[in-house]
Amino acid sequence: MIQLIENGEKTGKLTKEELAILLKSSDWDAELFQAADRVRQHYMGNAVHLRGLIEFSNICRQNCCYCGLRRDNTVIERYRLAPETILDFARKAKSYGYQTVVLQSGEDLYYTVDKLVSVIREIKKLDLAITLSIGEKSREEYAAYKKAGADRYLLRIETTDKELYRRLDPGMNWEHRARCLMDLKSLGYELGSGSLVGLPGQTIESLADDILFFKEIDADMIGIGPFIPNGDTPLKYEAGGTFNLSVKVMALVRLLLRNINIPATTAMETLHPQGRILALQRGANVVMPNVTEGDYRRLYALYPGKICINDTPAHCRGCITGKIVGIGRFVSTDYGFRPKSE
Ligand code: 5AD
Ligand code: SF4
Ligand code: FES
Repeated sequence: MIQLIENGEKTGKLTKEELAILLKSSDWDAELFQAADRVRQHYMGNAVHLRGLIEFSNICRQNCCYCGLRRDNTVIERYRLAPETILDFARKAKSYGYQTVVLQSGEDLYYTVDKLVSVIREIKKLDLAITLSIGEKSREEYAAYKKAGADRYLLRIETTDKELYRRLDPGMNWEHRARCLMDLKSLGYELGSGSLVGLPGQTIESLADDILFFKEIDADMIGIGPFIPNGDTPLKYEAGGTFNLSVKVMALVRLLLRNINIPATTAMETLHPQGRILALQRGANVVMPNVTEGDYRRLYALYPGKICINDTPAHCRGCITGKIVGIGRFVSTDYGFRPKSE
């Protein structure tokens, strides 16, 4: 086992079988986490990049079985922010010193290309990097956003198990989602993807496949989080993912993809009070503090137990900075693009 971890650290390569062995045993987790931390330190240094997250609409046309924003969820109160409000939050993000804003929403068709292009253009005037996380769109639409100034795009593949995807994402198509990732890459976006850990019926082998898939598509950012059952969805009685397995998948992503940006995800902290800090010590180098204000934070309810729903953006900024400094790291003052070469 130790040999496997050393090899992975040295070469950035592990086979599906080797990944599965490491995921299945917990005897060598400490060694795996230390190796991931060394790789992070070597390729990315001690800087932690903060990305200000703006959740601008919780309206979604899709019906993913795990997600609280799914269209069949009639319990949740829906909202969408006016373009001026999005801009206001972006200005505040800038004032907190964030260099990137992440614009995230359900697949809400209210925001037409024209509307979003003008929001992107205005935000670019603030000298911020922009990450979009708004789901599956046409290549033309992605191209328009890129041209307007968007720099990065997050689209989790969620799982590489196509049968599982078919069951959990009714009406969606795995191949189409993968094609979106290819389109985004070829349009010059920094490409972010990722998956959920602990979906009902998901195997360890398929998690190994996920990691290899991220390497194959040469992702620039990978977000891994546990699946947390949401009481307003069909998966409410399922077990959900664990913190430890999610962090292990994340650590293995760090071993194999080496110089990419990896967030310590919010869902990890829902399952463990030190979740994000532990993740930062086991391979992660990014945190995405929420800059959405007021009730919108609570209403953007992908899963229950979301952290910071009663905190202000200013409070979160101080809180996370303190935690980062407390483990001997520092908040980056640059945009935090993926380094060009290893
Ligand atoms: N638990 C954890 N993460 C979830 N997401 C959606 N629903 C859940 C859940 N119940 C994640 C998906 C999506 C991202 C925005 O939120 O992976 O890509
Ligand atoms: Fe919509 Fe995304 Fe939730 Fe699926 S995961 S229902 S696409 S917000
Ligand atoms: Fe929000 Fe700590 S980051 S309260």
